[in-house]
Amino acid sequence: MKELPRADLNALLRQMPKAELHMHVEGSLEPELIFRLAQRNGVVLPYASVEALRAAYAFTSLQSFLDIYYAGASVLLKQEDFFEMAWAYFERAAADSVVHTEIFFDPQTHTDRGVAIETVIVGLAHACRRAHAELGISARLILCFLRHLSEDAAFATLEQALPYRDQFIGVGLDSSERGHPPEKFARVFARCRELGLHVVAHAGEEGPPAYIWSALEVLKAERVDHGVRCLEDPALVRRLVAERVPLTVCPLSNVLLRVFDTLAGHNLPALLDAGLCVTVNSDDPAYFGGYLNDNFAATFDALPQLNVAHAYALAHNSFEASFAPTAAKARWVAALDEVFARFRS
Ligand code: HPA
Ligand code: ZN
Repeated sequence: MKELPRADLNALLRQMPKAELHMHVEGSLEPELIFRLAQRNGVVLPYASVEALRAAYAFTSLQSFLDIYYAGASVLLKQEDFFEMAWAYFERAAADSVVHTEIFFDPQTHTDRGVAIETVIVGLAHACRRAHAELGISARLILCFLRHLSEDAAFATLEQALPYRDQFIGVGLDSSERGHPPEKFARVFARCRELGLHVVAHAGEEGPPAYIWSALEVLKAERVDHGVRCLEDPALVRRLVAERVPLTVCPLSNVLLRVFDTLAGHNLPALLDAGLCVTVNSDDPAYFGGYLNDNFAATFDALPQLNVAHAYALAHNSFEASFAPTAAKARWVAALDEVFARFRS
């Protein structure tokens, strides 16, 4: 593929249509909205101001982030709170040329505070329908189980969610990775597969390659979220390449949570060069310094070996890796090709 001047490459990254497949909607809750909802709902926060909250975003590990992330989510009580949070994300996504997104939500973070699962799912599903009608974004929900809780708790959550089975397309596994391997959730994931749900799992963010193996072999994960530590295990890379198992990589998140010291030291180019089906995603954009295009821009800036062909591969992979129908994927790829042709002419 012909190279472009850097300014044109940056414009192409912004304008190319793309799918986002790894974004926790509770991680899109900006400090301003946290404070507005706290006031509206009478929730007392352990931070005096928006600035004081932002100043606390100095993470040293996944756990240090999760403690603040769960505190932020405590302001969500009503259907309209969940709607407003997701709607704010969809507006940002539309500005970033996102045409399809499969967003994670954590019901247990809310049901454990006494919020009904119906409140969570109905509020989020309403925002998804409106995103399609008003922004042209196709949006789907993936229910995540919190891996620091028990498999029995995951089963209870699945049971509560089943009346809303048609409102989400799959299940995932998130929260504290170390000490909570995928196989802890073998039975509940088997049940989810029987129900026809798609299955994905976070693995190989802080956890070892063995967790990626068990996400594949035990959970039968169709995508691996993060998965960046796969490069430590050549046999695992061969398996992921052969089966084209997508990795939903989140570059800014990885630096903020110290998975990599710097963006310049991120292994994204190596993952791409290994032939893996890699995608770029924002993870928790309100906490990690940016939405999807911020991730693309910062990553391509820090890693000058990334070029036009890599940009195309990342956008193409995002559609390929999605759970959207084949016809929709073909439409998005055609739109992608059109944008690339415009930049090359
Ligand atoms: N990793 C694990 N769990 C999470 C994350 C993450 O990056 N974000 C929200 N929950
Ligand atoms: Zn994540």
